Amino acid sequence: MSDQIVMGGSGSQGLAARVAHKMNATFGNVEIREFPDGEKYLRIHTPVKGKEVILIQTMGFMPDRLLMELLFLTETLSQLGASRIRTVVPYFAYSRQDTSFKRGEVVSFRVVSKLLEFSGSDELYTVDLHLHRVVDTSDIFKIPCHNLTAMPLIGEFIRNNYSLDDPKVIAPDEEAEQWARDMAKELDADFAVMAKVRKGPEEVEISAEDLDVKGRDVVIADDIISTGGTMATAISLAKQAGAKNVIAACTHPLLIGGALSLIHQSGALEVIGTDTVPSSVRVVSIDRLLAENLVH
Ligand code: R5P
Repeated sequence: MSDQIVMGGSGSQGLAARVAHKMNATFGNVEIREFPDGEKYLRIHTPVKGKEVILIQTMGFMPDRLLMELLFLTETLSQLGASRIRTVVPYFAYSRQDTSFKRGEVVSFRVVSKLLEFSGSDELYTVDLHLHRVVDTSDIFKIPCHNLTAMPLIGEFIRNNYSLDDPKVIAPDEEAEQWARDMAKELDADFAVMAKVRKGPEEVEISAEDLDVKGRDVVIADDIISTGGTMATAISLAKQAGAKNVIAACTHPLLIGGALSLIHQSGALEVIGTDTVPSSVRVVSIDRLLAENLVH
């Protein structure tokens, strides 16, 4: 049995339990309740003094409530004398607001990062962080930040579960090139990058030249599917260019509102995501990725 303790906030209890099991570590007991007025009550029952604690809490859906839990837990672990707190945020909300696009806008990413540091985290782990204008995590975090990628795991899952015919991987925009490249490597395929212009929170314009997908199976790889606009548009373009089967793959399947049906209507064979956030798509767990990176 390892001397590490793994615990989860309410957003990642299941994932934390799986990681603890894979690491042969103690699964910490956390009591989480809510007062009638909506305030959170948290209590850590497992003794943590002198122990290294791995705290896993996603920020997908109701990010403010999950963030508050995370801050409460981290500060309490610190007060209880944990020797080291390694915070894992599988889906890091607010990372897309990494600059002031208009004068006076909050840079939410910076504020959330400061809060995590302030609460006592010694080290941060996250998965396929949406890094766009901030390219180096040390520009925003003073504590060490490890940005892991789930793309090889998703690629491995696709390779083992689908017989793809002459596969081609597509990034729906330039930022996604890194994920398409990782996926293509895993599938031993080539990849192409589409060009995207965002017109609004739910509206995107994507263009692509000579995709070379006629008669081929396609995997579209992205970090986040939120409203599904990006993925659905990319699928339609691939289909118009003659793609056979199209698989939509992402790390964080937020799938807000009608995103999933939008993607299916555009002709996707399958939608695959990970358990960084809860979802109803075909799930590849990141438990192995976390365990391998966190175990001593
Ligand atoms: C943005 O650049 C991200 O990589 C995703 O492409 C984006 O968040 C997807 O959002 P939506 O599903 O709302 O188009």
